[in-house]
Amino acid sequence: MTIKACLFDLDGVLVDTARYHYLAWRNLADSLGFSFTESDNERLKGVSRMASLEILLEIGKMNPSENEKITFAAQKNALYLEYIEKMNPDDILPGVREFLTELKKAGILIGLGSVSKNAQSILSKTDITGFFDAIVDGNIISQAKPDPEVFLTGAKMLNTNPEQCVVFEDALAGVEAAHRAGMKCVGIGSPDILSEADMVIPGFENFKVKDIVL
Ligand code: BG6
Ligand code: MG
Repeated sequence: MTIKACLFDLDGVLVDTARYHYLAWRNLADSLGFSFTESDNERLKGVSRMASLEILLEIGKMNPSENEKITFAAQKNALYLEYIEKMNPDDILPGVREFLTELKKAGILIGLGSVSKNAQSILSKTDITGFFDAIVDGNIISQAKPDPEVFLTGAKMLNTNPEQCVVFEDALAGVEAAHRAGMKCVGIGSPDILSEADMVIPGFENFKVKDIVL
């Protein structure tokens, strides 16, 4: 395929914030009196804040009021913001900056496709905003992954057809969203978890455009 654009998920792909999301949700679960494991957390990756809370509450078998849910989500986000507050350019995952630089030189467009409402702040703290030709985040979309909206919006903003876009994702919901958008998907992480992806790599260290084999 001819690649015209690469669309990147943020959390767990460009930066290690997937870990912070997990720790913040686990802290909320602890405070509500139930445990929340890393394997439970796979279900939350790529899922919006409120939908993540619903899954967490289902795991804890809790049924709070709508107002309590808003309080719980705010509590989780406050702790998450504490974790990301000190992020800086060193927090970019290994090889990411080099790969983005290679894409730029090759004239391949770069888009962000994240459902996080905190995405812009993380891009700015880590100083990579300037790489992006389009930024789609949780503030401009209405449907979280696995809905394809986030990636279809990115393709539209970049003026490219879905079949010319490659998505980079660490979440099962994100791989499904990419495929539903008609795009190929490179999984970032373990092939056991991301078996649906078109290829899986552990991360971007030493990864080059020529290594994308789809
Ligand atoms: C996704 C994460 O990128 O963003 C999810 O994978 C997270 O874990 C979602 O829930 C929403 O993030 P935020 O920052 O808006 O709470
Ligand atoms: Mg992710």
